[in-house]
Amino acid sequence: MELNEVMRTTFAARDFTDDEVSDEVLGQILNNARFAPSGGNRQGWHVVVVRDRATREAFVPLIEPTWRRYLAQHGAGETPWNTIVASRVTEDELEKFSFAADSLKWVVEAPVVLTVFVDLAVVASFDAALDRVGVVSGASVYPFIWNILLSARNEGLGGTVTTFVAPEEASLQALLGVPRHMAFAAMIPIGRPVKQLTKLKRKAVSEFTTLERYDGARLKEPL
Ligand SMILES: Cc1cc2nc3c(=O)[nH]c(=O)nc-3n(C[C@H](O)[C@H](O)[C@H](O)COP(=O)(O)O)c2cc1C
Repeated sequence: MELNEVMRTTFAARDFTDDEVSDEVLGQILNNARFAPSGGNRQGWHVVVVRDRATREAFVPLIEPTWRRYLAQHGAGETPWNTIVASRVTEDELEKFSFAADSLKWVVEAPVVLTVFVDLAVVASFDAALDRVGVVSGASVYPFIWNILLSARNEGLGGTVTTFVAPEEASLQALLGVPRHMAFAAMIPIGRPVKQLTKLKRKAVSEFTTLERYDGARLKEPL
């Protein structure tokens, strides 16, 4: 596929056919994804391929409380889980909040789920001491993770980067036998999408690009 088309059509696929995703195909995808950059070229990622149904069912109770909070905050018009504006949703409202019990079924039923971890012992976390949540460590693994999705698209497959298991990282590590210094980065259900989206909703370039300063002139919209 042509690169621009791959970038413009790699959407978050959550609805998959029953087609299997073989180890050979996964190998192809990862063989391309591994060329992603990372700080110091340390390549601290590790992928655990999960097909076992019982393991995937064990993911659900780890995800549910986070998903509940996300949906409740979203329903209250907030930007869920952000670290800047405190949530006004109370624990009581949270407890009473109801959502579709099977809304995480797609994670269990996808043909395969990749879980990706990054070795914090090899990542230079330059922003670790700042008085805000760290973002730089993720930069050494998310290019790899996004490459997985781009490469999957090239194979006619799709998936979704998910992070909603993150608060339960310790339980996930215990479940999969992952050492504590390997931070959870993403859980990616992958399969053949039932429908291929081609028009993704994204901001225009001029909405997020300014010249010289944050409050500078907007970059002219490309033709
Ligand atoms: C860092 C990151 C975390 C995400 N976490 C979740 C998640 O926990 N659950 C989920 O369903 N989707 C998750 N997504 C998928 C986004 O919702 C999706 O990429 C976005 O809505 C764009 O969707 P589209 O490409 O289909 O337009 C995540 C995406 C990224 C990049």
